[in-house]
Amino acid sequence: MSKTQDELKREVAQAALDFIAPHLTPASMLGIGTGSTANEFINLLGTSGLPFSGTVASSEASAQRLRDFGIPVLDLSLVNSLQFYIDGADEANGALELIKGGGAALTREKIVAAASEFFVCIADESKEVATLGKFPLPVEVIPMAENIVVSALRAMGGRPEVREGVITDNRNIIIDVYDFMIDDPKATETAINQITGVVCNGLFAHRGADLLLLSGQTGVRSLKA
Ligand code: 5RP
Repeated sequence: MSKTQDELKREVAQAALDFIAPHLTPASMLGIGTGSTANEFINLLGTSGLPFSGTVASSEASAQRLRDFGIPVLDLSLVNSLQFYIDGADEANGALELIKGGGAALTREKIVAAASEFFVCIADESKEVATLGKFPLPVEVIPMAENIVVSALRAMGGRPEVREGVITDNRNIIIDVYDFMIDDPKATETAINQITGVVCNGLFAHRGADLLLLSGQTGVRSLKA
């Protein structure tokens, strides 16, 4: 019988916990991502009994879930560095470049990733692609800049659509860019960041993952940077 999507998420979350466990000490600080795969990781971390001192969360939702397990959640401004960041992705390529932001948490995710010494990305193998861009690329935008950012993204060749009913934890909007062939993820990440009004985009290419764990029907594969 084939494993369900939920079982695959749990399996890859367990693989991430097994990977970080030998490195943890009572002083360890962890960055924790957002989404259903990250939630599986929180469930396992919360009952693991492993030594660590606290976490920084990439969203209010993850912070609440961590607190529900009695895990300390700190503001990043109070933390010097994060030993590991564990988070999911919407797409990942063989260079460990990612699209993230399906859950609208991309800006905080990028900040936590930047503050982390080692980024473990966890996903089931349906997220693995040769070329990024089939998943619509999320872009977080200051609300008053919506029209000029939509025009600029259209001029770059994408089909931007405002994500209806979504306001980020930072009080901004999300524009999803469809039909974008992203041949050079680093260049595209830089170019979108140059559009006035853009806060952040969901390409994690300049700071991609350090380790990508992908669960599938035959087990978990590791891809290293
Ligand atoms: C949230 C994210 C998530 O990591 C991404 O959407 C994957 O989520 P899931 O694990 O539920 O498939 O980037 O902003």
